[in-house]
Amino acid sequence: MASALDLFDLKGKTALVTGASRGIGRAVATGLAEAGADVALLARGTTALERLAGEVESLGRRALVLTCDVNDSDQIRQAARTTFAEFGALDVLVNNAGGIGHAGPFLDLDFDDWRRVLRLNLESTVHACHVFGAHMVERGGGSVINISSIAGLGGTPMLAHYAVTKAAVISLTRTLAAEWAAAGVRVNALAPGWVRTDLTRAFLADPDASAGLLAAVPSGAIGDPSDVVGSVVYLAGDASRGVTGSCLVSDGGTTCFVGGPQLLGFLQHGRIPV
Ligand SMILES: NC(=O)c1ccc[n+]([C@@H]2O[C@H](COP(=O)([O-])OP(=O)(O)OC[C@H]3O[C@@H](n4cnc5c(N)ncnc54)[C@H](OP(=O)(O)O)[C@@H]3O)[C@@H](O)[C@H]2O)c1
Repeated sequence: MASALDLFDLKGKTALVTGASRGIGRAVATGLAEAGADVALLARGTTALERLAGEVESLGRRALVLTCDVNDSDQIRQAARTTFAEFGALDVLVNNAGGIGHAGPFLDLDFDDWRRVLRLNLESTVHACHVFGAHMVERGGGSVINISSIAGLGGTPMLAHYAVTKAAVISLTRTLAAEWAAAGVRVNALAPGWVRTDLTRAFLADPDASAGLLAAVPSGAIGDPSDVVGSVVYLAGDASRGVTGSCLVSDGGTTCFVGGPQLLGFLQHGRIPV
C-alpha cells in the first residue's frame, strides 16, 4: 500500500510541458523533474530550453528539448514522434504554452487579434490533445493538464479573446475527461490567477494597474510561477487518481472575492445595519 507521499512520486514517469522555456512552464517542468519525472521541454526558444535541460539532468532525470511552434500542427506531430522515439511513452502532458497578444476593449480588438489567440491558446491545445491523447488512450493511461486561467471563469473586460480561449480550454477538458475516463486517461484544467511572468509584465509594470490587481487578490500577493507547481504535480500523478474533468483554481482567492476590495473595505468596519 503506497503511503500518501508516494502518491506524489513521479519516478519512472515521463512528462511533456509546452511553453517550458520561461514563466509558469519552466517552473512546472522543473517541479515535475524534482518529483521524479523525465521531462520533454517544448517551446520555440531552444537556448532557454537547453539551459533548463541541463538543470533537469542535474536532478538525475532525462530531459528532451523539443523546439516547436505550437501554432503549427505538423510541428506538434513531429514533437510527438520525437518524444515517443526517445521516451517510449508519455504519461503526463501539460498544455501550458499560451499568450495574449494585444489587450484592449472588445471594440478595439481586430479579428486578427482573435485569430492569433484562438490559434495559440485553443487550437494548439486541441492539436496536442489529439496527438498525445490518441497515444494515451491506446496505452490505457495518462494525465493531461490544460493550463487555463481565471480569465476563463467569468467576464474579463479588455481580454475578451483571451478569456474565450481559456473558457474553451475548460470546456474541452471536461469533454475529453468524460470521453477518455473509461480508457484510464484523466484530463484536468488548472486556472491560475495573476502570476508574475513575461505575460503579465506590462500590466504589473504600471503602478496603477499593479495596485488595482493586487487589491483584488485576498491573499495579498501576485502569484509566483512556483505557486502553481504543487497543483500540477498533484494533477500529474496518483495523488489525483480519482480526479478528472476538474478545474483547479490557484488564484489566492481572487475569484471568491465577490464585491471586490471596495465593498470589503466598506463592510469590514464592524457591524453595519443594512
Ligand atoms: N502569468 C499569468 O498571470 C497567467 C495566469 C493564468 C494563466 N496563465 C497561462 O499560463 C500559461 C503560461 O503563461 P506564462 O505567464 O508563463 O507566460 P510566458 O512567461 O509568456 O511564457 C509563455 C511560454 O509559452 C511559450 N510559447 C509562446 N508561444 C509559443 C508558440 N507559438 N509555440 C511554442 N511555445 C510558445 C513561450 O516560449 P517561446 O517564446 O520560447 O516559444 C514560453 O515558454 C499560458 O497559457 C497563460 O495563458 C498565465
